[in-house]
Amino acid sequence: MQALQRIMKVFVTRRIPPEGLAVIKQSGVTLELWDSDEPVPRAELLKGISGAYGVVCLLSDKIDAEVLDAAGPNLKVISTMSVGYDHLSVEEIKKRGIRVGYTPDVLTDATAELTVSLLLATSRRLIEAAAEVKNGGWSSWKPLWMCGYQLSQSTVGIIGLGRIGLAIAHRLKPFGVKKFLYTGRQPRASAASEIEAEFVSLSKLAEESDFIVVSCALTSETLGMCNKDFFSKMKKTAIFINISRGVVVNQDDLYQALATGQIAAAGLDVTTPEPLPTSHPLLTLKNCVILPHIGSATYSTRNTMSVLTANNLLAGLRGEPMPSELQL
Ligand code: GLV
Repeated sequence: MQALQRIMKVFVTRRIPPEGLAVIKQSGVTLELWDSDEPVPRAELLKGISGAYGVVCLLSDKIDAEVLDAAGPNLKVISTMSVGYDHLSVEEIKKRGIRVGYTPDVLTDATAELTVSLLLATSRRLIEAAAEVKNGGWSSWKPLWMCGYQLSQSTVGIIGLGRIGLAIAHRLKPFGVKKFLYTGRQPRASAASEIEAEFVSLSKLAEESDFIVVSCALTSETLGMCNKDFFSKMKKTAIFINISRGVVVNQDDLYQALATGQIAAAGLDVTTPEPLPTSHPLLTLKNCVILPHIGSATYSTRNTMSVLTANNLLAGLRGEPMPSELQL
């Protein structure tokens, strides 16, 4: 394998698993690391990336024209440790001939597992019920207390039947789901046939689903897609789950839908902003379970993501095909 030169500086915007860092260190490049678990301040990002040939970033780092200008003409590769790339100004990157690596596939299983956990925690009211045990609200076994909704015999609607959406559906099927619906830019016949899912409009999906899982990418079409109109079409007994990006949902409209009983409950692994301020109205609702964007957070997946991110970076610096390159 071609040794890379020490004059090539690579900036890594956060502490990442040591497996990935080791791969970069062994390559011979000069590694500059923002050695913290917290995000790099913008000014430090602009400073750190200056003169870099490659950058390893996370979904919380906005890589836009200002950052690319600060990097200067050496920058050849951006390698993001995420499957989502809505934090990257793709047009600006493309204009400058910079290549982009990302981490699809390796986080699919972990994210699908988390989604099933969140869905069950929301529909069976686990967080609320566990709190009642601690706060003395558990007075006896009561027939009408802490009832939720079950997957068995249900209709599940998936918004975005990509890799992750399909993996979620496969895991939900054994719970006895009666029917899968899905929507997206276009039908995905092969994926849909695996779970016998029907391609429908967003409205029909909203109207007929007992559980709705948002697992689409953030694009100009999906931005704000789950809004007042969407929630008003949902069943009063339906559960809404979002593991995509917070801005796919209009949070004010979601709050209204939850607070007024328009829908039964929501589970969110993603919010706007992230972190969600602790004073946010959604956090006052018992029928809303909010997690801190932990879809891919298992030890093995994060290790694998870090190594793939490093290998994408190095392949890009060597001018070789990346293991996972985003086609710009
Ligand atoms: C997580 O949201 C990711 O994009 O990897």
